Amino acid sequence: MESALTARDRVGVQDFVLLENHTSEAAFIENLRKRFKENLIYTYIGSVLVSVNPYKDLEIYTKNHMERYRGVNFYEVSPHVYAVSDNSYRSMRTERRDQCILISGESGAGKTEASKKILQYYAVTCPASDQVETVKDRLLQSNPVLEAFGNAKTLRNDNSSRFGKYMDIQFDFKGAPVGGHILNYLLEKSRVVHQNHGERNFHIFYQLIEGGEEDLLRRLGLERNPQQYQYLVKGNCPKVSSINDRSDWKVVRKALSVIGFSEDEVEELLNIIASVLHLGNIQYGGEDSGNAYITTDTQIKYLARLLGVDGLVLKEALTHKTIIAKGEELKSPLNLEQASSARDALSKAVYGRTFTWLVNKINVSLAYKSSNAHSTNASVIGLLDIYGFEVFQHNSFEQFCINYCNEKLQQLFIELTLKSEQDEYEAEGITWEPVQYFNNKIICDLVEEKFKGIISILDEECLRPGDASDITFLEKLENTVGGHAHLTTHKLADGKTRKVMGREEFRLLHYAGEVNYNVNGFLDKNNDLLFRNLKEVMCMSDNKILTQCFDRAELKDSKRPETAATQFKTSLAKLMEILMSKEPSYVRCIKPNDAKQAGRFDDVLIRHQVKYLGLMENLRVRRAGFAYRRHYETFLQRYKSLCPETWPSWQGKLADGVSTLVKHLGYKPEEYKLGRSKIFIRFPKTLFATEDALETRKHSLGERVTYHMVLVDAVVVQAWWRGILACRRAQRKRQAANTIRRFIKGFIYRHNERCPENEYFLDYVRYSFLMKLRRNLPKSVLDKSWPTAPTALIEASEQLRKLYMQNMVWGYCKRINPEWKHQLEQKMVASEIFKNKKDNYPQSVPKLFMGTRLNGEEINPKVLQSLGSEKMKYAVPVTKYDRKGYKARPRQLLLTSNCAVIVEEAKLKQRIDYAALKGISVSSLSDGVFVLHVPTEDKKQKGDVVLQSDHIIETLTKVAICADKVNSININQGSITFTMGQGKEGIIDFTSGSELLVAKAKNGHLSVTAPRLNSR
Ligand SMILES: Nc1ncnc2c1ncn2[C@@H]1O[C@H](COP(=O)(O)OP(=O)(O)O)[C@@H](O)[C@H]1O
Ligand SMILES: [Mg+2]
Repeated sequence: MESALTARDRVGVQDFVLLENHTSEAAFIENLRKRFKENLIYTYIGSVLVSVNPYKDLEIYTKNHMERYRGVNFYEVSPHVYAVSDNSYRSMRTERRDQCILISGESGAGKTEASKKILQYYAVTCPASDQVETVKDRLLQSNPVLEAFGNAKTLRNDNSSRFGKYMDIQFDFKGAPVGGHILNYLLEKSRVVHQNHGERNFHIFYQLIEGGEEDLLRRLGLERNPQQYQYLVKGNCPKVSSINDRSDWKVVRKALSVIGFSEDEVEELLNIIASVLHLGNIQYGGEDSGNAYITTDTQIKYLARLLGVDGLVLKEALTHKTIIAKGEELKSPLNLEQASSARDALSKAVYGRTFTWLVNKINVSLAYKSSNAHSTNASVIGLLDIYGFEVFQHNSFEQFCINYCNEKLQQLFIELTLKSEQDEYEAEGITWEPVQYFNNKIICDLVEEKFKGIISILDEECLRPGDASDITFLEKLENTVGGHAHLTTHKLADGKTRKVMGREEFRLLHYAGEVNYNVNGFLDKNNDLLFRNLKEVMCMSDNKILTQCFDRAELKDSKRPETAATQFKTSLAKLMEILMSKEPSYVRCIKPNDAKQAGRFDDVLIRHQVKYLGLMENLRVRRAGFAYRRHYETFLQRYKSLCPETWPSWQGKLADGVSTLVKHLGYKPEEYKLGRSKIFIRFPKTLFATEDALETRKHSLGERVTYHMVLVDAVVVQAWWRGILACRRAQRKRQAANTIRRFIKGFIYRHNERCPENEYFLDYVRYSFLMKLRRNLPKSVLDKSWPTAPTALIEASEQLRKLYMQNMVWGYCKRINPEWKHQLEQKMVASEIFKNKKDNYPQSVPKLFMGTRLNGEEINPKVLQSLGSEKMKYAVPVTKYDRKGYKARPRQLLLTSNCAVIVEEAKLKQRIDYAALKGISVSSLSDGVFVLHVPTEDKKQKGDVVLQSDHIIETLTKVAICADKVNSININQGSITFTMGQGKEGIIDFTSGSELLVAKAKNGHLSVTAPRLNSR
């Protein structure tokens, strides 16, 4: 419609919703006329396409035109049947919803042409492959074949479809047409045996006679002259200027082979067509009331050959009827009239069933033959091209069915358009204002209701035993539904109506207008009976097509077949179901004049169609309140330049942008409403004013074009760069997913031998262990920590640990200097002696041993002098306990290379040669008391010496090293016995207590209380 806005002044409006006076029929028709004169045959009512038959070739169906509509928004291009096709196609692809396009209109309005254009559009614009090409060809070629057998020249249309057609086009997931299926409805079989003046039989008869090769005709026993055939002369119109039967014959022959008919099948099909013509030429002799007999034996001869039946049996069957009564077969001769109608019934049955066979055959050829299992996933676009509403001078059973069908379609149209309109208002949160419209359900009910409907009444008359006739049917109508507002008969009508009605007519007040139906033939046509013996003959036929059409099982079935009207009713109900399940689009076709002339616009005729197509109602519903509605985005995009806040781009919410824009434009509150995603504008003039403003603005914007071009370039670059980034991101994600997948697999197979499934995982585990190890190696030789190895690396980890330890120890050793070595050697000795034996040993470990605890100045020079050349190795202050009384005296203990000396200031109190040192005793507790044992026999000595050092471990280690008495240090529990000289012994008792206490006990022993250490 956006294009409609720009072009509105030139040729009316492209969308009727933009008509200012939308309720005026005159304005509506004026708009149609204006456009029609300019060869603009298409106009929208919202999304419904109205099409007026131009009766001339317009150059608007070229490939270029198709391209113009392909993938373009419905509203951005001028109205066209291609726009509807494309819109349905895109909805099918994007919403994955089956679509249908309903084409309606009266005979000659252009329905079949429209459906062909749609099919061509799909054939040209949809993606294709080799296989698809064949399907496309077959889809396209099914048309000439069906038209040859199902179309005829009528007064209304030189190529009138005499059957209803619904065709599904199936598309695969790529959107390529891959198959099709056709449903046919109620072929007008009566045309086979009778045509009104100025009309013809089905095209195929004329095509065969005009186009068939000489020897073909000879074989079929036909002459090249339609006038020779009774079935072709009724309408007195064998030739039509707009039809070239001969060239059409070639087209049909080619189409048959494209669709996949074998030569044999074509031959048998033509045998049947020729047979029908021969049947028509069978003539009877005999009196009116007497028995009929056949006077034309040549026909029987041809028929016997062409149908592959016994001539005598056929002859018999055409003049007699068999009835089965009480299990017995009774044969009775027919009179002239009966025999003729039996013959015609046979012709109609043969032709009708062959037509159905043809449709089935085409369906087999169009069937979606997919090798993959998802073939049922095809999306579908359905095309409905069905007979339009028909009113003739003389209307019969066929018109009754056709018009009933149109009532049903109108009903569907009303329901779906109203409903979708109402749904949209609801979805947008806008109050629905009810629209007055005529609901034709009342007429549908009148026709189809069980028991009380016209079809039920007709069936009842057909089935009723006794003298039921068309007239009794009419009477029954009067009695049953006579009071219905939409039905009247000659008898029931008022005087004025009675004048224009025959006595044998009933009148239905259709939604589209009044139609008088003549009841003559209703019962017969509804019964559609074929005598049993004729059926039997057909069942015996050699013709393969006929054997498929006439099934022997049918003869055995004693149940009455359904009547024609009921069958039609059922098939329509199914059709409605099919259509309801799809999203519909509508093409409403209008015929501009009855003369099939280009450029003639007949007001009366068109007004009538506008009325019965319900177009004004459609427009009213569509306009209910609002002329125009658009998604916020589309609206803003189009008009944003009209408001400084929204130009060049609006960053906030779309709804706010639109709101700002319309406020800036000065829309009054009653002129518009904002829905959830769309703006609704009430009057076209509001929109036109906005459109005019846009035109003016466009000029001033011209200068900005360059700026815009740069902007566009920037956007392109940005888009590319974003694309590249997105690609990279996607690649990273892909890699990550791969790694995770390999990892999980590896984890599952981790206990297996190395294999492709787990090698990545195992390598990773090894690598990560080694990396972890590297970060967590022990820092010192004493650090015993070591990361836990995975199963595969336990052995290697152990080896590594040893190597690393050795290396660390080696390095450590290399770093040790002589003093430190000396220190460690002493510590080693201390450890050998005291480790786990004396309580205060652990405390001594971290403390370094000193070279000496007394330096030169602290020792009296006299003492040093008296020691002479003996080298001093260690000196420490000690406490000495007297042997008697255990008095504590401060002393110094000096160690030289030969002896230990106890010194009191300048006096050398006692000297103990190492050689004479018998042993050393200490307690296992934390005290510092020790005893140096000396031999008792040595008179120079005054007995063992009891000393106490604050550095007992160090002191005794030095003594042990200097005296080389490592093994002579006794560590005692409880008490130590020592000699005091003169054979006397003293005892030191050791106990644990809170603090160190050395004192003489009452028992005369020296009692040592050693402090308990925390570690104990
Ligand atoms: N779009 C069109 N362009 C040109 N001629 C058309 C167009 N539509 C219909 N016609 C003419 O009108 C005739 C009848 O159209 P058709 O589609 O057979 O009518 P319907 O199927 O509605 O009875 C066609 O044979 C053709 O000559
Ligand atoms: Mg048609």
